[in-house]
Amino acid sequence: MSVAIKLRGCGKTWPGGTVALHPLDLDIAAGETLVLLGPSGCGKTTLLRLIAGLELPDAGGQVLFDGEDVTRLPIERRNVGMVFQSYALFPNMDVAGNIGYGLRVRGIPRAEVARRVDEMLEMTRLTEFARRRVDALSGGQRQRVALARAIAPRPRVLLLDEPLSALDARLREELRQEIDALLRSLGITAIYVTHDQAEAMALSDRICAMERGRIAQIGTGRDLYHRPANDFVAGFVGDTNRLGEELVRPEQLALHPSAEGEWTVQRATFLGPFVRVKLRDAAGRELMVDMPDLATPAPGARVEVRRRGPA
Ligand SMILES: Nc1ncnc2c1ncn2[C@@H]1O[C@H](COP(=O)(O)OP(=O)(O)O)[C@@H](O)[C@H]1O
Ligand SMILES: [Mg+2]
Repeated sequence: MSVAIKLRGCGKTWPGGTVALHPLDLDIAAGETLVLLGPSGCGKTTLLRLIAGLELPDAGGQVLFDGEDVTRLPIERRNVGMVFQSYALFPNMDVAGNIGYGLRVRGIPRAEVARRVDEMLEMTRLTEFARRRVDALSGGQRQRVALARAIAPRPRVLLLDEPLSALDARLREELRQEIDALLRSLGITAIYVTHDQAEAMALSDRICAMERGRIAQIGTGRDLYHRPANDFVAGFVGDTNRLGEELVRPEQLALHPSAEGEWTVQRATFLGPFVRVKLRDAAGRELMVDMPDLATPAPGARVEVRRRGPA
């Protein structure tokens, strides 16, 4: 049921000349969860809206679903589900009414709508709220309604635009795990937009890192973390040190107290699982090293830095 998506030469220039996307190619496998990751304004939403059928690409761009050209097909004929940051629920309908909306407009018989709504309520753990007005729900519950509403018509593709951004950290983590489980059980092709690298790592089969309207790198979280294509990706996905030409992660370094050490401890910050140590040398270069919370070096201490051996 899920669909493979191809973009070919898809660019987007807004009236007035803002280039939101430079022409790009992108292949998304059937059933894959692809995360579009990048800072605000890099073109994530624009790309998602092209895939949804809410925007047309510039001339020459093509969107293909399972090889079929859908570039000019509007959203209601693409069979896609969408979830937005802002929930975008119908405030005058209760939870069940919202979830069933897309089924009713498709003319699905009442009994089938009721059956499918019950199934969605259960899947998103909302059964007890079926008759509740949506404005009497918490943010997390509202987003579960939006998710249930999007998947009720059994779309071929699910598109999510920063669905967790409006929620607080704790809830974000909880709902992220629910979405992850849901995407995996549905096996649906999903494209998930976020600016949060932890979310991207946790949910994705692959991440598409975007920088100013271009794809900077596509790969697994591991690929981006261990083999970033450029400084932008290295800096956006995790913290990094530059040692000459090389990028080295703080956890790949170890420090050793030494009176002749080249580095001086500036600050050591306890972060729970590890201590983040900031170092500086005589030339003013800076370095971050993460170490286990065993002995926290004092500011001013001289240390040597070595590469950690392979784990
Ligand atoms: N409807 C629009 N009209 C004009 N410019 C737009 C419109 N939507 C987005 N943009 C511009 O396109 C660029 C990319 O925006 P967007 O795709 O929303 O980025 P992101 O989702 O990564 O934050 C930005 O410069 C933004 O200001
Ligand atoms: Mg956006």
